[in-house]
Amino acid sequence: MQFVTAGESHGSQLCAIVSGVPAGLVIDEAQINADLARRASGFGRSSRQEIEHNTVSITSGLRFGKTLGSPVTLLVANADGKNWSDRMSTFGKAPKNLAREVTPRPGHADLVGALKNNTDDCRNVLERASARETAARVAAAGIAREFLAALGVEVFSYVTRIGTAEFVEEAPLESAPDYKPLDIEMSEVRCPNEEATEHMLKMIKVAQVKGESLGGCFRVVATGLVPGLGGFESGPERLTSQLGAALFSIPAIKGVEFGLGFEAAQRNGSEVHDLITHTKKSGYSRASNNAGGLEGGMTTGLPLIITAAMKPIPTMASPLKTVNMDTLEEAEASQERSDVCAVPSAAVVAEAEVCFVLANAYLHKFGSDNMDDIQAALAAYKKRLLKG
Ligand SMILES: Cc1cc2nc3c(=O)[nH]c(=O)nc-3n(C[C@H](O)[C@H](O)[C@H](O)COP(=O)(O)O)c2cc1C
Repeated sequence: MQFVTAGESHGSQLCAIVSGVPAGLVIDEAQINADLARRASGFGRSSRQEIEHNTVSITSGLRFGKTLGSPVTLLVANADGKNWSDRMSTFGKAPKNLAREVTPRPGHADLVGALKNNTDDCRNVLERASARETAARVAAAGIAREFLAALGVEVFSYVTRIGTAEFVEEAPLESAPDYKPLDIEMSEVRCPNEEATEHMLKMIKVAQVKGESLGGCFRVVATGLVPGLGGFESGPERLTSQLGAALFSIPAIKGVEFGLGFEAAQRNGSEVHDLITHTKKSGYSRASNNAGGLEGGMTTGLPLIITAAMKPIPTMASPLKTVNMDTLEEAEASQERSDVCAVPSAAVVAEAEVCFVLANAYLHKFGSDNMDDIQAALAAYKKRLLKG
């Protein structure tokens, strides 16, 4: 299952095409819209989110709510696009009074993108480098998410840190799979703990007043996985490498840990490796899940637990120093309408990326033509594993 997105931040719409979708999968538009709403929410986001409707329109690949096996096209309109139609016109001449973006923001794609593409207007870069594009990813991943749900897999996320405000969990790897999505979504920062939520909200409010921006950390959890997804045979087959690449494809993600992550580096082997157990009823399992559900590049059958770190937002209300590309003199960086903190939202985007990787792992292992055959192959595999 592959997807490609198109569309600029202030163009008329975003588009995603998902190919390699099996036939016979039931798709619920409301579910995709709910995910888009989750991506748009979270305290600390810009006023852009109040303008956008973030509703998906599916224009191909479905008949009567079920996939046909052909590419699925998903469109998400940019409500703000109409305010930019002259400045972002696909044809015609640029308006005479067009203000070019010549003061690149440190931490954003502006300068290097402009140098690489030989443009004197950073808008030619930032319109696509903007994380508005991730709305198309979330819409596209609705297809992968429905596919996984039909196979008993659930993917969710929650925030564990905003700046220095941390949700301290005693045994995160044990508790992570048990958080209830409803509790997570009740929090304005998508953190399932009230006290930590309050602390994080305070942190964002202080940053807002100071003209600062913030990053943080979040966890993505997938439950209901069978063991043996991915592969050990070569680097690209390792699910670890696929998940890492998928998560690092999200703008501003600067660190990814599986299970214990960096903590494992300072422990003895006996305090890290998960003991192998077996019961007749459930087959093989593990006494703990320090590996975060991955061994040898494959799923162990225990919950997949990934923690990722996001850097602070580059656009700041108190702009950083930069260089004016016309005069080559010191200047203040451009001011786009911007989030102060987007960690809760980035976590939803990360869910989307994880959904695609896991969906592909299932398709690779159990076939890809239609849901009935895939479900039958999965049931046969589960039966074989139980035989031991
Ligand atoms: C969900 C989400 C929302 C974001 N919102 C903004 C924003 O409002 N303003 C901004 O400057 N950067 C924002 N970013 C981060 C930039 O897109 C990112 O820092 C930039 O593209 C440069 O890429 P890099 O950080 O990977 O180097 C956001 C990122 C994500 C994932």
